[in-house]
Amino acid sequence: MIKKVCCIGAGYVGGPTMSVFADKCKDISFNVVDVNPDRIAAWNSKDLSKLPIFEPGLDEIVKRRRGKNLTFSTEVHKCISEADMIFISVNTPTKTSGIGAGQASDLKWVESCARQISEYAKGHTIVVEKSTLPVRTGEVIKAILESSQSSLNSKNKNTFDILSNPEFLAEGTAINDLENPDRVLIGGSNENAINALHDLYKKWVNEDKIIHTNLWSSELAKLTANAFLAQRVSSINSISALCEVTGADVREVSRAIGKDSRIGSKFLNVGPGFGGSCFKKDILNLVYLANHFGLPQVADFWESVVHLNSWNQNRLTNIILEKLFGTLTEKKIGILGFSFKANTNDTRESPAVQICKNLLNEGAYLKIHDPKVSKEQIDLDLGTPPIEDLKKNEVLVKKYKYKKWENSLLENDFFENLDAVIVLTEWEIYSKIEWEKVSKKMRSPGWVFDSRLIVDEERVKSSGLSFWRVGVGTVRRN
Ligand code: UDX
Ligand code: ADP
Repeated sequence: MIKKVCCIGAGYVGGPTMSVFADKCKDISFNVVDVNPDRIAAWNSKDLSKLPIFEPGLDEIVKRRRGKNLTFSTEVHKCISEADMIFISVNTPTKTSGIGAGQASDLKWVESCARQISEYAKGHTIVVEKSTLPVRTGEVIKAILESSQSSLNSKNKNTFDILSNPEFLAEGTAINDLENPDRVLIGGSNENAINALHDLYKKWVNEDKIIHTNLWSSELAKLTANAFLAQRVSSINSISALCEVTGADVREVSRAIGKDSRIGSKFLNVGPGFGGSCFKKDILNLVYLANHFGLPQVADFWESVVHLNSWNQNRLTNIILEKLFGTLTEKKIGILGFSFKANTNDTRESPAVQICKNLLNEGAYLKIHDPKVSKEQIDLDLGTPPIEDLKKNEVLVKKYKYKKWENSLLENDFFENLDAVIVLTEWEIYSKIEWEKVSKKMRSPGWVFDSRLIVDEERVKSSGLSFWRVGVGTVRRN
């Protein structure tokens, strides 16, 4: 019987996941630990708007469970030693140097967790991989845990089971995804351990949605799911470019293909390119694995999905440049949306970062609005030169000219003297802009670029502003 659960890592995965677990399994205590005291302080803040993660519905759950069966602390060792089950939810970014740099995941945080567990766990502990990990990481964790016990006599030995239980939640809808998952995947070899985790989930998830597999299938299924989803986004984005030049409308194409039950209608929205912490990292992981196992054709296939995505982000810059008479120097451009998608404050791999850098490089002045992303985060994303390219970026930094619009609501003053407005994130407020009013504030001829197809077409057209939309072509006569 599981009584105490510890989750190492209080990030976008660990925090919301344990909150929902605590809400659904009130007789079990869930203790989330992290090495970062600031993050833990934010999780414990009285003012729920200060939680480190913005996720609709999360604050209500934290309010209900925190201090009851949900805690956030930096007491990593203590919580490990008391737990029957430990989730590893730490970050696994792409390696920046050494073998596999740019593709393989850096497992140093996972390894450090395994070492801490091997040192502090007591009795029998079920260790659950929650972070997205390269296939066969379970083996690494097992090796570390078992080697620590080999020198002990059998009476003092601690025992471990390793499970893979990948998280499929998407940011912005995390609470709903956790409460109503399409499926729950539990990979492992020990029936008892699998059933222990199964029993937690079955408190709110229909049992036919809980799938048991071996450890490796579970790890690979997670990478594959993200790779398929990313490929779908790249596929529709590639078709959007074709729509623009042929006079087709990507919304009509999406609707038509989505009716085919084999294809399905979800995840066919065009945009400036996929972002977020998972898609690029997971595909590159797959690429690394395929190359490692001597399958270069498989690696090339998946790598092209990432290439297409980068091309798509740069494509938008080129279009803006062309429409604004070939120069952006000293032009004032309003950026609507900086997070990688709506309803999150996360900017990891956000297309806005690359697109803003491109525009700044062209000499533009940017005014950036996002309802949830802080100025500090934007400064970090745009202002800090990457260490490996310091020299080149020192020049760039001097050129950076941008301003974060401080209001969470978008006010008409934002548009003062702008030459162009670019919608990069599909926040709902951007679909309600009164273009007739704001056009009067902008410099003529003003442009609106809609990379998400959410702008009210009629309002822009009647405002006299010039309008470009992704994936919608004008019909050619020849
Ligand atoms: C993703 C997976 O969906 C989730 O299962 C996994 O656990 C983590 O990675 P997330 O990154 O939070 O979740 O967001 P998701 O909704 O998948 O969107 C990823 C990116 O694709 C975003 O930049 C989004 O704007 C883009 N996207 C998504 C599109 O451009 N069009 C679409 O139709 C869907
Ligand atoms: P994810 O999106 O996967 O949740 P995040 O970066 O949001 O990733 O969160 C991962 C968290 O894990 C961070 O807050 C980080 O401080 C924490 N972390 C990393 N390594 C350790 C460790 N060894 N012990 C405790 N916490 C850790």
